[in-house]
Amino acid sequence: MKPTHLTAPTRRDISKALLFAPFVLKAAPSSSRARIKLDRDRVVGAIDQKIYGNFTEHLGRCIEGGIFQENSPLSDGNGYRRDVFKAVQDLHVTLLRWPGGNFASNYFWTDGIGPRDQRPARLELAWGTVEDNRFGTNEFLNYSEKLGTEPYLCANLGTGSWELAERWVEYCNSSQPTAMTKLRQKNGRQDPWKVKYWGLGNEMDGPWQMGHRTATDYGRFALEAAKIMKLVDPSIKVVAAGAADLRGDWVGWNRTVLDILKDHADYLSLHLYVGNKENNFEEFMASSLQLQDLTKTAEGLIRAALLNAQPNKKLYIAWDEWNVWYRERGQGKESGRHILEERYNLEDALVIATFLNTFLNNAHIVKIANLAQLVNVIAPIFTNDKGLFLQTIYYPLQLFANNSKGNALELSIESPTYTSKKWGAVPYLDISAADDNGSLVLNVVNRHRTETVEAEFEPQDAQFSNSFEVAEVNGPDIKSENNFGSQLVGIKRSSASVSNNRLIYRFPPHSYTMLKGRMA
Ligand code: AHR
Repeated sequence: MKPTHLTAPTRRDISKALLFAPFVLKAAPSSSRARIKLDRDRVVGAIDQKIYGNFTEHLGRCIEGGIFQENSPLSDGNGYRRDVFKAVQDLHVTLLRWPGGNFASNYFWTDGIGPRDQRPARLELAWGTVEDNRFGTNEFLNYSEKLGTEPYLCANLGTGSWELAERWVEYCNSSQPTAMTKLRQKNGRQDPWKVKYWGLGNEMDGPWQMGHRTATDYGRFALEAAKIMKLVDPSIKVVAAGAADLRGDWVGWNRTVLDILKDHADYLSLHLYVGNKENNFEEFMASSLQLQDLTKTAEGLIRAALLNAQPNKKLYIAWDEWNVWYRERGQGKESGRHILEERYNLEDALVIATFLNTFLNNAHIVKIANLAQLVNVIAPIFTNDKGLFLQTIYYPLQLFANNSKGNALELSIESPTYTSKKWGAVPYLDISAADDNGSLVLNVVNRHRTETVEAEFEPQDAQFSNSFEVAEVNGPDIKSENNFGSQLVGIKRSSASVSNNRLIYRFPPHSYTMLKGRMA
């Protein structure tokens, strides 16, 4: 363990340290104890609950065999898997994106409505299968409603048209006496669902995307789509497709798209998948520094675009696909239905917790985030025909979504660090704090593989409650996985006491800990 003050900072360290804002990250004290000061008046931003979103794509067994399985004894009369529904409910998914992903770029929503047996089967060109269209708009929106989650539809701006997008908004949201409203009513849904969040295409910068175009061509096409969709329903919010291709011109794409769409888009969509191909725990645990870097860069680009936008125009970041994903990349069509079925271990769960910390620590600008994806396909929930198990990454998602609310606090942190090849100084403790009217949640990941790190939390002008609830996600080893009938990684609950208004806690190696108490 190397305290920061012993490390001569490189230029890279210094520039990266600046990216830690809103943290004030200082040199560690001479002991290896971390010290964190909390002040309820120092707020980063309101935590938008939509950062606890998720994503369901017509891909492998995410929908078919995941949330939806007709003729299964585990499903209800609509075909929704009851066991999956319960696991999704417990996860407290606040926003659900559909139908893709790459799938969205050639999806004609009109194929997926009406009597199920009469819907056309189509070639599915994104993942090389056949789409039977038995799960469509009504099934998805009714599912979201039953869950109490906000739906988020991604329009086809690849092979689709302005008309296709416009009619979809009308079908879902209109009460006017039009053919679309009547069609919805004929299909069994009297009142509009009032879908508020709409994606203007998916990953349109990627050469792999059907309908991929240049930033200018996409920007102009998406601008007209946004205008027309908002004419149908001015209350909707639209998400412009930002850059997904990190090997492409990420900055240039975002700059151009923002410049064209700044007055019409409400969010910029960004995607990030990370992995541990090199099997290097320390480097992998620093992945959230890339998320921080990209978030700050996108924030700067948004601010630059807004200089010439309508007064008071707001534009936020939607990290609407993010996850650990590097093992099951779905090469070729041979994997069939069992495609992208990544199995997650403890180190993946810790990276997920650091990403959630990063969203909280950028709560002023990150207002939407969707883990990709919900079931089976790079997912926290894994099914077979007989049941399901919860993957390691389920637990941090569940703890954050059910507890971290209110305002994210700006923290003053002194933490011991280690040196990453890519990122320079990396604090062993990665921390976020949420203050919900005095109910305080501290989220702490100990990135140390072998050592406990002790931390002292100090409230400024406030009193801690006498004790804090503790929920720890950990397991026997960083590579521990869960499986059907075996759970090595889960949540262990205990409590911690406060003395002299100081909370001192020893964070075990390779752990994510949530501490919940009061600070008033
Ligand atoms: O989530 C899997 C795929 O990753 C999505 O379809 C696509 O948008 C991204 O490249």
